[in-house]
Parts: sequence; structure tokens; C-alpha cells
Amino acid sequence: MKKQKILFVDHVGVIGGAELCLFDISRYYSSHSSVLLFEDGPFREKLEKNNIHVIVFPLSKNVLQVRKESHFVFDLLVIPNIIKTTFRIRKIIAKHDIIYANTQKSLILVAFFSVFFRKKLIFHLHDKLNAEHFSFLHRKIVTIIANLTCSDIIVNSKSTANSFSDNGGNDKKTKLIYNGIDPEQFQKIEIADIIKEKQKLGLSNQWIIGCFSRIAPWKGQHLLLEALPSLPNCTAIFVGDALFGEEAEYFNRLKEITREKGLNERVHFLGFKSDIALLMKICNVIVHTSIVAEPFGRVIVEAMMAKVPVIASNEGGVKEIIEHGKSGLLFKPGDSSDMVGMIKKILEDEQRSHEVVNNAYNWAIKKFSVLGMIENLKNHIFHF
Ligand code: UDP
Ligand code: GLC
Repeated sequence: MKKQKILFVDHVGVIGGAELCLFDISRYYSSHSSVLLFEDGPFREKLEKNNIHVIVFPLSKNVLQVRKESHFVFDLLVIPNIIKTTFRIRKIIAKHDIIYANTQKSLILVAFFSVFFRKKLIFHLHDKLNAEHFSFLHRKIVTIIANLTCSDIIVNSKSTANSFSDNGGNDKKTKLIYNGIDPEQFQKIEIADIIKEKQKLGLSNQWIIGCFSRIAPWKGQHLLLEALPSLPNCTAIFVGDALFGEEAEYFNRLKEITREKGLNERVHFLGFKSDIALLMKICNVIVHTSIVAEPFGRVIVEAMMAKVPVIASNEGGVKEIIEHGKSGLLFKPGDSSDMVGMIKKILEDEQRSHEVVNNAYNWAIKKFSVLGMIENLKNHIFHF
């Protein structure tokens, strides 16, 4: 049987969790698929380096900038641009059999012509459709379009699925497929590499707390800065960057808090790293600080596969990854003193930390591997 041609679509050019998930999927199907991006950037480079065919179709800035905070009138003003782009990509859609929208904006742009040309349309919902992130109008539009046009809606957690159905989403179309992570990147790291990296960063003689996330207010990195004065023997490394324009302001605020609290010596902002494995392995504990429910949280699984104890905010998809006390520790969302308590518990009890790490590793390998994710996609979505 001739394999069907897939068009994967994503609207950003930067590398976030949704893009890394798409990277693994499109890599598996690379011999008969293309990735359509609406913005050029490092994501295009990463895909092309791995021989994945990419088409970049730059979208006008005002469409990319539509956000929860944007005014209703602004949202209306972008409609002509959306229609124009929709028409201009119709020929690309026509050449494929399956259209796979990896983001909400890309779904809006491909939905009409996917239906018009009778293509199978799949939507991968990576976000929780909640009021903290998206306006009521936005949530309704996305849900209605998904219900009407998609054959399957992949959700990255039960928590994301619930947010979709809370907005009127059709449960019958949702398929839960957890993100998969490649464990090999961590397994190949030797103790000598870890020692060398610590020396390079000047962090050989202290506890290292790692925080790996793009810098954004809802990711809550400030909680770790609030916690540090109560953790005198610890140094924090922040790995990640402000990926979207308006988040730069929060990054500046984090640097200001660091100065105000006199933490310069104990806080390192390392920026975005394309390879996080070694940096994770130098940590004694990894914290995940989101103050708004996280849809899934790839970094938590990565920490588990790196065999580093992980402490995370008790909300959203995180609760499907960590069983408190067994495969990690959970703290009250937004509560830095509860987080301090959990960090101390892990750092002061080597035996417990060891048990948690082993349980977490076995669980992550069983439940969240790339191979498992691809198997699920083959069985439930693509059927090839
Ligand atoms: N990440 C990375 N480099 C960085 C910071 C993060 O490659 O400097 C990766 C991280 O390893 C994870 C992804 O970005 O795979 C973030 O995904 P997650 O689901 O945790 O959060 P998102 O940013 O997608 O909300
Ligand atoms: C989104 C979510 C994150 C999830 C990732 C991959 O970026 O914010 O929680 O892990 O997609 O599905």
C-alpha cells in the first residue's frame, strides 16, 4: 500500500516543547512528510539538519502576535491576513493526504482547505484551554473548529483533554498520547563528563538546583529565587530563554530580583541550550515551578530519565507523571516555602532520594518513551 503523505504544520520558528514533540514525530515519518512553518528560526534549522523537509511560509507579524491580552478589535483586524494566508497555502495542502496541525494557530490556518480538499485533519492540542492562557472567544473558536473539522484530536494529558471538553470539545475525537522522550541522550553521559562540566561552571562544591524551562511568568521561575535564601548551600541554574517577545520583561525582572536579594553568586542564567542532558545530570535536584497548571511538562520526564530527583507543582498534567513520594515530590502551586520543604527532604535523605530516582526512571521509561509514543501514533492515528 502506498504510504500517505503527511503535512505537519506549526506556526513558530523557535523551539518549545510542542516543537520538540513534533520533531520526534516528523523525524519518524520523514520519508513521506513535510513540515510547514509560519516563521523561520532555529526550529527550521533543527528539522533540516535531520533531513526533514521544511517549507517556511512567513506569516504577517500581527497574526503571530494575537494573544490573550490583545484587544478584541485587534483580533478582528487580523482576520483579512488569516484569510489571505489560508488561500496562499491551499496548494500545499492539496498535495498531501493527511494534515497534522501541531498548534492552535496552525489549525485555524489549515482547517478550511483541509475540509475543502477532503483531507484527514489531525490536531495535536498541547495547551490547556483555560482562562489563564486564552480568552473566552479564542477557546470557543478553537474548540468549534476542532470539533467540526478534525478526525482526531491528540491531547498530551488527561488534564488537557478535560480543558478541551470543558469548553465544549468533542470527547469522542480525543486520543491521549503522552509525549515521548529519548532516554539515550542521558544514558550516554559518563561520570567524568559530569565532573568536568561542574568544574567548567565553577560549581564543584555545592548542591545544584536546576530549573529547565523557557522563561515566562506562568513558568514561575521567581519561586526558586524566593526559595534560595532558605537554602544557603544551594546554587540555582536556570536553563532556557524568553522565547516570545513580551516574556523578556519577566526575564529582566528575574535578574533584578537576583540582584535585590544579593543572590548573584548563587544564581546562573545559562540561556537556551540545544542539549540539556549533561546540564540536567549535574543537578542534585530539578524543580518545575509553573504557577499555572502545566498541560504536560516534558522537563519532568527528562529529569526522571536523567536520574535526578524532581520536585514539581501539584497541578495539571504533572500529576499524571509524578506520584507524590514515589517518583518525585509535589508542592502546593505557587508556594515557595512548601517547595523549600520538599527540596530539603530530598537533599537531606540520600536513601529516599535514591529510591525516588529509581522509581521515576523505571516509570518514565515504561510510560514516556519516544518509541511508545510512535507506537501509539501508528496504532491509533496514522495506521501505518
Ligand atoms: N528545553 C531546551 N533547552 C532549554 C530549555 C528547555 O531544549 O534551554 C527543552 C526541554 O528540554 C523540554 C522543552 O524544551 O524538552 C520544554 O518542554 P515543556 O513541555 O517542559 O514546556 P513548554 O516550554 O513546552 O511549555
Ligand atoms: C506545550 C505545553 C507543555 C507540554 C508540551 C508538549 O508546550 O506547555 O506542558 O509538555 O506542549 O506537549
